[in-house]
Amino acid sequence: MDREIKILAIESSCDETAAAVVVNGRDVRSNIISTQIPLHTLYGGVVPEIASRKHVERINQVIEEALKEAGETLEQMDAIAVTYGPGLVGPLLVGVAEAKAIAFAKDLPLIGVHHIEGHISANYIENKELKPPFLCLVVSGGHTHLVRVTDYGKYEILGRTVDDAAGEAFDKVARAIGLGYPGGPKVEKAALEGDAYAIDLPKAKVGDSAYDFSFSGLKSAVLNYINGAQMKGEEINANDIAASFQRVVVEVLTEHAMLAVDEFGCNAFAIAGGVASNGALREAMKKACEKKGVPFYHPSPILCTDNAAMIGAAGYYEFVAGRRDGWDLNAVPNLRLGDR
Ligand code: KG4
Ligand code: ZN
Repeated sequence: MDREIKILAIESSCDETAAAVVVNGRDVRSNIISTQIPLHTLYGGVVPEIASRKHVERINQVIEEALKEAGETLEQMDAIAVTYGPGLVGPLLVGVAEAKAIAFAKDLPLIGVHHIEGHISANYIENKELKPPFLCLVVSGGHTHLVRVTDYGKYEILGRTVDDAAGEAFDKVARAIGLGYPGGPKVEKAALEGDAYAIDLPKAKVGDSAYDFSFSGLKSAVLNYINGAQMKGEEINANDIAASFQRVVVEVLTEHAMLAVDEFGCNAFAIAGGVASNGALREAMKKACEKKGVPFYHPSPILCTDNAAMIGAAGYYEFVAGRRDGWDLNAVPNLRLGDR
């Protein structure tokens, strides 16, 4: 497109209230994130009712800040993009209702964005040369997907988790070793002080497809190890558990990813989602991709976890493809990738 397409993007699917102004899908003019993590830490996880209420309290201010930081007004926007699924229904509804109200009041096009499409599109922001087709491993708190991005907005799912998501496993193991919520960054930090080979843990069992993942067996093995040690009156070393667990998760993710590279070939490999900010995963994926001569991409940590800039990036490609939503756009908590 010759002219600048400015999109105001809104994200509220879980525990971050976020708004961003993104120009032509890759140029982030503002990216405001109001996190609720300290609030939910008290309860050891996200409490949906509290999350919904906080989104309502914060969303207007977050949007105002995003416009102000970008030096823009609503009148200068070309479209409003909003996450409409998957996620928690109450939190999603807050963003969707807000986006609809703004779009209606300002007579702007409304574009519902798939949250995972957002995570994948986060890679476009800092990697201007990245273009489909490429392979992407999406690893977040709710999702673990190995995806072929065949074109902008077009996805073919090769494999997914059959039980826990990778981030969920990090969160559960963190809780078991007393690190608290959110677990991923805490396990990563503890792992730096631990021995990754101290504890013998099974590789996660694969489901029906060679590209499916399963993390619940690994999580149970960690819990059994802890129980066994406690019954024998032995001290557990949280750092060793964190390091051993992280090593196995990283090995499984990397091995599956490389299997897909071998079978399908690819111009590039990208990772996305909260777990993509994990240093050990990035390092392992980078090495594995280098060995195969495949360029490897990942977003900065702030663009890996939930944010609205990624929704603005995905929303732009939906916009240029001509996709628009009506006033009947609703929150879809279990929306599947490719359902649109
Ligand atoms: O993408 P995200 O912000 O939200 C979802 O869409 O789910 O991902 C959050 C997940 C949490 O499970 C969190 O523990 C995990 O990403 N995570 C990490 C790291 N940072 C966040 N997992 C491993 N290492 C990290 N550094
Ligand atoms: Zn997410």
